[in-house]
Amino acid sequence: MTSPQLLGRRSVLTGAAALGVAATGTRAETVFDAVPPLKSITPYPLGVAVKVSQLDDPTWVKLATPNFSRVTPEWEMKMEYLLQADHNLHFDRADRIVDFAHQHGMSVHGHTLIWYALEGGDHFTNLAGKPDAFLDAYVGYITSVMQRYAGRIRSWDVVNEPVRNDGSGLRDCLWSKVLGNDYIGLALEAAKRADPGALRFINDYNLELTPKKRSAFLKMCERLLKDGAPLQGIGTQTHIAADISPQAIRDAMKDIASLGLLVHVSEVDISLQEDHPANLAQPLKHQISTLNALLSAYHDVPAAQRYGLTLWGLRDSDSWINYQKNSGVMNVKPDEPLLFDALGRPKPLTRAFVRAVK
Ligand code: XIL
Repeated sequence: MTSPQLLGRRSVLTGAAALGVAATGTRAETVFDAVPPLKSITPYPLGVAVKVSQLDDPTWVKLATPNFSRVTPEWEMKMEYLLQADHNLHFDRADRIVDFAHQHGMSVHGHTLIWYALEGGDHFTNLAGKPDAFLDAYVGYITSVMQRYAGRIRSWDVVNEPVRNDGSGLRDCLWSKVLGNDYIGLALEAAKRADPGALRFINDYNLELTPKKRSAFLKMCERLLKDGAPLQGIGTQTHIAADISPQAIRDAMKDIASLGLLVHVSEVDISLQEDHPANLAQPLKHQISTLNALLSAYHDVPAAQRYGLTLWGLRDSDSWINYQKNSGVMNVKPDEPLLFDALGRPKPLTRAFVRAVK
């Protein structure tokens, strides 16, 4: 998108960065004293996604710790990192994140145990022809990971993104291929046995964008509950574009809350570039009204169900959207989907957040 505002903003940001370095020879100061510590004004836990590399970034630490009360590991607590080619579990980075959180009085939301997108190399595929051994390994993985952090991780996305994006049913994946669709209930049961004190969530995306997917997701949750599965919460990721209809957000939140389970708005970013950039005459204005619609819809969820809201990154430069292809190289036109700008400074979006949560 090259709208005047964005181009204007981007060149101002770049200019400020250059100015910052020129004036002091060091990284431009992060200025966030213009807003109060966000976690102190938000009536539910406010979370942020974290990667180990950010724990060694003083700017990240200085900005995240006063503003957020919870962290979600962005990828280093997933099977892709924990279960490596040597078939051993590597907890070094997840340990660092949990230790950091507890050192800073923050809680941890574990993400994620079972995901269609990650199969743990050939550890599980080697067992695909032996369902009993596969199930033992499946339950063993969940148990080993959760027991390591028993009492130190408050909640888990036990299963991530189980529903097909078109809402036509559950995704086919290694887990469903070997264990059937009961892989979800089996994971929840194993999670309860492993750490009964940790809250158990199922997490998915586009529940606001695709009503058919939302309906399939909620029907799955209802069926699990009817079968006695120990499901306690729903994670609605909320990776949305600035031009989403506010009514779509309100409808989704109402439907999701209707099951009476905990509701975690689990991975918020509000993109200025996805889907229909051309439709937005004033993208930043749209982004603020979308944030206001999201917060207002969440505030209508009964307080007892509001498990919290988590931003999927701290600064715009931390957003996965800008590195989505895992390229490691920032997009040519970086998106600005988060609460703080690339230099860690509050934006009009931050001030809109402050106004809306109060
Ligand atoms: C993403 C991370 O942000 C990236 O860093 C990683 O390379 C891929 O996964 N839904 C989820 C998250 O549940 O785990 C995904 O996180 C984003 C979509």
